[in-house]
Amino acid sequence: MATYKLLLLPGDGIGPEVMAEVEKVARALAAMGAARFEMERGLVGGSAYDAHGKAISEGDMALAMAADAVIFGAVGGPKWDGVPYDVRPEAGLLRLRKDLALFANLRPAICYPALADASSLKREIVEGLDIMIVRELTGGVYFGEPKEIIDLGNGQKRGIDTQVYDTFEIERIGRVAFELARKRRNKVTSSEKRNVMKSGVLWHEVITALHKREYPDVQLEHQLADALGMQLVRWPKQFDVIVTDNLFGDMLSDVAAMLTGSLGMLPSASLGAVDKVTDKRKALYEPVHGSAPDIAGKGMANPIAMIGSFAMALRYSFGLGDLADRIEKAIADTLDEGLRTADIKAGATTIVSTAQMGDAIVAKLNAAA
Ligand code: IPM
Ligand code: MN
Repeated sequence: MATYKLLLLPGDGIGPEVMAEVEKVARALAAMGAARFEMERGLVGGSAYDAHGKAISEGDMALAMAADAVIFGAVGGPKWDGVPYDVRPEAGLLRLRKDLALFANLRPAICYPALADASSLKREIVEGLDIMIVRELTGGVYFGEPKEIIDLGNGQKRGIDTQVYDTFEIERIGRVAFELARKRRNKVTSSEKRNVMKSGVLWHEVITALHKREYPDVQLEHQLADALGMQLVRWPKQFDVIVTDNLFGDMLSDVAAMLTGSLGMLPSASLGAVDKVTDKRKALYEPVHGSAPDIAGKGMANPIAMIGSFAMALRYSFGLGDLADRIEKAIADTLDEGLRTADIKAGATTIVSTAQMGDAIVAKLNAAA
C-alpha cells in the first residue's frame, strides 16, 4: 500500500472543524487498507499570524513544498481585520498558490438531486447540474504589478491593481480546460471582457488559436464575463467546462456554488504543472467556502466541501479515482438519507452537526467497503 504525505493546514474559523472530518475519512481509508496517509499539521492565516507574526511560516512553506498534497481549510476572520496588509490571513493562501505555482484551480459545481430544493433557483434549473469551472490562479489582477496605493499629494490618493496575462499563462490554463472537456461533455466556454480589457482581447485570441491548433475536436464558445454570470443563473446546464481568469473565476465560482444549494458543498483543487521527471505535480485542495467566523466553534459547519476536496486529492494527486468515487457516493447516500447540516436544510430533513455529518459519511464508506 502506498503512503501519501499530506500537509494539513486547517487555518481559521470553521477550518479546524471541517478538517477534523477529513482526518476521520483518511483514517477510515487506512483502516480498510485502501491507502495510507502520513499527516503533518501546520498553521496558516490568522492562526499563523498569532503564532509567528506572518500568514504562514517558512517552516510550514517548506512542509508544503515537500508534501504530496496540501489540504487547506479556510483563513480569515474579524479578529485579524486590523493586521498589516502583507501579513493578513489571505496572504498565506496567496503565497502558497504563487510559490507552489498552482496555476490551475478546478471548481466543480455538482447539484446532488437530494439538494435541488436547497438551491435558491428552481429545481428544474439546477437538478443534475455538473459543471467545472477552471480558474487561472497565479496571474491576473491578484498578482499583477504595480499593486499599490499612492499619495497624489493634493489630498487625493490613487489605488492601483494591474490585470496582466502573458500568452503562456493563457495557453496552459486553456490546455487544462480542453483536456478536462475531452473526458466530460467535450465543451469549453471561455470567458473574459474583451469589449473593455486588453488582457481580454489577448485571452480570446490565445484560446481561439490554441483550440484551432490542438483541440479542434472540442466545442468552444466564448461569453463575456458579465453575460456568463447572467447565464449561470438563467440556464446553467448549458455549460460543461468554463475557463476564465483569476478574478472572474473567483466571482463566478461563488455564483456557481449557490446553484448547488450551498457554498458548503463546493470542493476545489489547485494544481501545478506535472513534473516531467517525477511525473508528480504540486497541489493544494480547499473548499470554496471561507472561514465563516459567525458559525465557527458551534459544530454547525458543513464538512462536505472539505471532504469533497480530499476526494479530489485522491483523484488528481494520487490516481485513486475509484476511492474518490466511493467518497462522493458516500456523500450522496448520506444526503439521500435526509441528513443535513443547517446550511442545506430544506423540508423534512434531519439537522446534524459537523461531526455527525462526518461520521455518517464514514459509516456509508465503511458499509460499502
Ligand atoms: C477563494 C477565496 C480567496 C480568493 C481569498 C480568501 C483570497 O475567495 O479561494 O475563492 O479570492 O481567491
Ligand atoms: Mn472566492
